[in-house]
Amino acid sequence: MPPTDRPTDEPGPPTTSLYDVLHRRRDVRAEFTGEPIPEEVLRRVLTAAHSAPSVGLSQPWDYVLVRDESTRRSFREHVLAERDTFDAQLSGERAETFSRIKVEGIMESTLCVAVTYDPQRGAPEVLGRHAIADAGLYSVCLAIQNLWLAATAENLGVGWVSFYREEFLQQLLNIPATVRPVAWLCLGPVHELAEAPDLERHGWRSRTPLEERVHHDSYGRGGDR
Ligand SMILES: Cc1cc2nc3c(=O)[nH]c(=O)nc-3n(C[C@H](O)[C@H](O)[C@H](O)COP(=O)(O)O)c2cc1C
Repeated sequence: MPPTDRPTDEPGPPTTSLYDVLHRRRDVRAEFTGEPIPEEVLRRVLTAAHSAPSVGLSQPWDYVLVRDESTRRSFREHVLAERDTFDAQLSGERAETFSRIKVEGIMESTLCVAVTYDPQRGAPEVLGRHAIADAGLYSVCLAIQNLWLAATAENLGVGWVSFYREEFLQQLLNIPATVRPVAWLCLGPVHELAEAPDLERHGWRSRTPLEERVHHDSYGRGGDR
């Protein structure tokens, strides 16, 4: 039910400012509590995802809610094997740092959500996609970001897991061959949202100052030039 249809006696979403939510949002792996998510909260979070902008109003996304423990366990085993594949490419300090980094909270989270992209949705006349095929994929990512921010506003954590092969996930969840899995999201209540990204805390990589990413009139031209 969209928030505007909510009966007045039902508690609404926490009233947090957009900027507060943007800056509190974190990718979560270790902080999930596993507590249940109230149905109305889940509905609000999915409604937020579903109200994202999409190229040609194609709304090319779907959400597979994965609660089943054995499905999650199978996926986790696959993810850990892919973690090993990545690990095998590292050496020295990178390997040592990576060994301390947890890349998923699949079993600890309350619910997992696989988000998919169907390029056939609204095709062939998808308005705005004729020159940029990826515009459909961008739309799905916007839905994911809406979900992530709404979950943060609800004091839930989200963890995006991308250590998987798309074909594996298609088979595991019976996703048709023409539909592309875009994300596996772990979702649920958390002990806390960390102040800094995990990768920064573990010394893998640091955030860059905005000034380094803003260009003036031409790519590569900073503000002081
Ligand atoms: C497309 C995408 C894929 C990601 N895949 C993973 C992943 O497989 N495992 C993981 O631990 N974090 C993953 N992340 C989370 C990023 O590491 C995280 O967003 C980044 O370090 C910044 O931290 P923050 O989200 O807490 O600000 C992913 C994020 C994105 C946007």
